[in-house]
Amino acid sequence: MNDALHWNNVADTYDTQIFNVFKNDKKRKLQRFISKYANKKNTAIDFGCGVGKALPLLAPFFKEIIGVDVSKKCIAIARTSPYKNVSFKEADLAAQKINVPSVDFAFCCNVAMSDDVKRNYRIIRNVLNSLNKGGVAVIVVPSLESVSISALTLMRWYETEGVNLADIPKDEMKNFRGDTSKHLAEGIVNIDGLPTKHYLFTELYALFNSGNFSLQKLDRLEYGWETEFDSPPKWMQAPYPWDWVAEVKRVK
Ligand SMILES: C[S@@+](CC[C@H](N)C(=O)[O-])C[C@H]1O[C@@H](n2cnc3c(N)ncnc32)[C@H](O)[C@@H]1O
Repeated sequence: MNDALHWNNVADTYDTQIFNVFKNDKKRKLQRFISKYANKKNTAIDFGCGVGKALPLLAPFFKEIIGVDVSKKCIAIARTSPYKNVSFKEADLAAQKINVPSVDFAFCCNVAMSDDVKRNYRIIRNVLNSLNKGGVAVIVVPSLESVSISALTLMRWYETEGVNLADIPKDEMKNFRGDTSKHLAEGIVNIDGLPTKHYLFTELYALFNSGNFSLQKLDRLEYGWETEFDSPPKWMQAPYPWDWVAEVKRVK
């Protein structure tokens, strides 16, 4: 299924189906990443804006926001947001080239995460290429290390209840392994049954420190354990599950 078809199908039930990064960001880090670059004289682009969840973090702090998404239906919902300085554009960010204005700030939250690694990398490249020299992109992507920590934590939970590793129900561990060895090598792990690209620290370090770009900061956006497991016990604390948030600058 292509991206537009998939996300048009999701649009109507977006709130119940899709994880809300902004609501679950435990330490409200995204707000700080964005406000560092907030400037009422600048235009910013929200790449893969979805139904517009990031708009409250962006619209009040920039002159103009352009929300770009492949899904007509998601954009139609985002258009109902109350902000007057937001416009929208339908585009496939994985195309070889996209037609958007150059900006000083770009935001892209959990968009480059399909099971097609080349398409994901093209999305990231297009986001970065939209920046003026000196401009910054804040990019959020799923973490493969977090998948591993979640699996370890689940095993520890079973252990505290006297269950051996071999006796953990297979279904419980199904989200923590790739469907094929290609998937495993590429960091494709299922989320709610959907093969989803997850990134390693070292992969992002190399990806964002190349060509005209320099990685300024790579941090963890932490979420509570209740976002992974039903009724997690009280001892289940840090390290919490996380997505990576990267701040990438165009230096040339
Ligand atoms: C998980 S949602 C995230 C939405 C929003 N960034 C947020 O954090 O609430 C992924 C969004 O990326 C969009 N998307 C996925 N692939 C895309 C592509 N190739 N080009 C443009 N948008 C895409 C989807 O339509 C969807 O709205």
